[in-house]
Amino acid sequence: MIGLRELTLDDAEAIRRVYGPESVKFLGRAPMDAVEVRSYLADALVSAARSPRTLHTLGLTVDYDLLGVVKLRLERPVAAVSYILRADAWGRGHATEGLRRIVALGVGELGLAEIRARHHVDNPASGRVLLRAGFTRTGARAGFMDYVIRPPSPPAR
Ligand SMILES: CC(C)(COP(=O)(O)OP(=O)(O)OC[C@H]1O[C@@H](n2cnc3c(N)ncnc32)[C@H](O)[C@@H]1OP(=O)(O)O)[C@@H](O)C(=O)NCCC(=O)NCCS
Repeated sequence: MIGLRELTLDDAEAIRRVYGPESVKFLGRAPMDAVEVRSYLADALVSAARSPRTLHTLGLTVDYDLLGVVKLRLERPVAAVSYILRADAWGRGHATEGLRRIVALGVGELGLAEIRARHHVDNPASGRVLLRAGFTRTGARAGFMDYVIRPPSPPAR
C-alpha cells in the first residue's frame, strides 16, 4: 500500500539511498552523503513545524518501506512539486501515485489554484509520470519541460 508521511530523523539511511547516484542524474546535484542527509532531515522537520508551512517534504512509502520523496513548495509565486525515487523502485508506477497524492494535498486540502512541475529534457520518464498524474505540458525553456495542473472550475450556475 502506498502512502505519504512526514520524515523523521530515523529515515537517514533510506533517504541516502533515495538520493543515490542513478536517481540524481538529472537533478544537477551529487548523491547525498551521510552529512548532508542529517541537515536534509533537520530542514524537513523545521519546515514541517513552521506556520504557515511553505514546504512539504514527504516520504513516499510502499508497505511502510520508504522508497522516495515528494515535495510541495509553496514559497514561490506558484506552488511546485518535485519527486525522486530510489532506483530499484522505478518502473512500478509509484511516482505517479505519489504525485497524485501530493496534488490531492495541494489542491484538495490546501486549495491551491495551480501547481507547477518541470523535468530535464533528457528525462522523459518524468514527463510521462506528470502526464499520467493529470499535468499538462505548457512549454520548454532552458533545457527543462514545464507542466501545470489546475483543479477543474466549479460548474457555472
Ligand atoms: C522519473 C521517476 C520519478 C519515475 O518514477 P517511476 O515510479 O519509475 O515512474 P513509473 O513507474 O510510472 O514509470 C515512468 C516511466 O519511466 C520508465 N522507467 C521506469 N524505470 C526506468 C528505468 N530504469 N529506465 C528507463 N525508464 C524507466 C517506465 O517504463 C515508464 O515509462 P512508460 O510511461 O513508457 O511506461 C524515477 O525514475 C526517478 O525517481 N528518477 C530520478 C529522479 C528524477 O528524475 N525525478 C524527477 C525530476 S523532474
